[in-house]
Amino acid sequence: MIKSIFFISLFINLFLVIVLNKKKIKKFINKKIIKTVNIEKINPIFKPRIISDNSKFPSKEHVTKMVLVHDEEYNVKGLISDYETWILAIMSKISLNIFEFGTCSGKTTYIMALNSPDNAKIKTITLNEDQASNLNFKSGESKSAYINSKNESSYKEFMFSGTSCESKIDFSFKNSMDLDIKDLKNKYDLIFIDGGHTYSIIKNDTEKALEMIKKNGYVFWHDYTPNKSSTKDVFKYLNSLSKKISIYHIKDTNMCFYKKE
Ligand SMILES: C[S@@+](CC[C@H](N)C(=O)[O-])C[C@H]1O[C@@H](n2cnc3c(N)ncnc32)[C@H](O)[C@@H]1O
Repeated sequence: MIKSIFFISLFINLFLVIVLNKKKIKKFINKKIIKTVNIEKINPIFKPRIISDNSKFPSKEHVTKMVLVHDEEYNVKGLISDYETWILAIMSKISLNIFEFGTCSGKTTYIMALNSPDNAKIKTITLNEDQASNLNFKSGESKSAYINSKNESSYKEFMFSGTSCESKIDFSFKNSMDLDIKDLKNKYDLIFIDGGHTYSIIKNDTEKALEMIKKNGYVFWHDYTPNKSSTKDVFKYLNSLSKKISIYHIKDTNMCFYKKE
């Protein structure tokens, strides 16, 4: 009898400890293992003008063409932050061949086209409604990432449609799982991975990107975010990949990058 009371009270105490520390436990399990760095670690182009010991200004390289969207009014899907967009805009200035997994509204594609050199080419792929409705949910993967992929695959027209930089953009509705990279190997200076966020898709897109990227080229990933159900597969995959290659998380963003040396 005393033994049973002991075990029941032990169980109740353990249960309470877990419930009361749920957040801390989750944080411990979903630990960020990728090193966080300042943008200057990406490329010297991010060096600011030093004004004084504790003050910096943007350099002339930091002037970019941007499109700012009033999110709540416009209801644009899949937006990345303005700071993340600015980082990709700067990287586009020094990139001739760019690839994007996941076009969505085409906002980032548009910014990359606006800021890249005149002879740059940007290839971007995304799903249409029919292709998204054929996606299969794989058990064990993030259900909300799967649902987001379906919801975000609704655009038939893009922010760059009808603009003067549209000619730089090679757009297609294509499932990245079917992307044949035979002729795309070692071709790209900059690859942005922001397509499907389920484990199998992020793994597929990354493995392909690592073959498609040129020497000295960069791969960027969006959504390295812990404790969020729609990004948990990206977080898990990038953590495991970072044990094999040098990936960095960029301070004040949800982005990571890798430079092929
Ligand atoms: C988060 S949004 C991309 C946002 C966009 N990069 C931006 O910065 O505005 C994700 C996009 O990935 C696309 N997508 C999801 N799974 C895909 C797949 N397997 N192949 C290609 N595109 C995919 C969806 O159609 C959706 O438009």
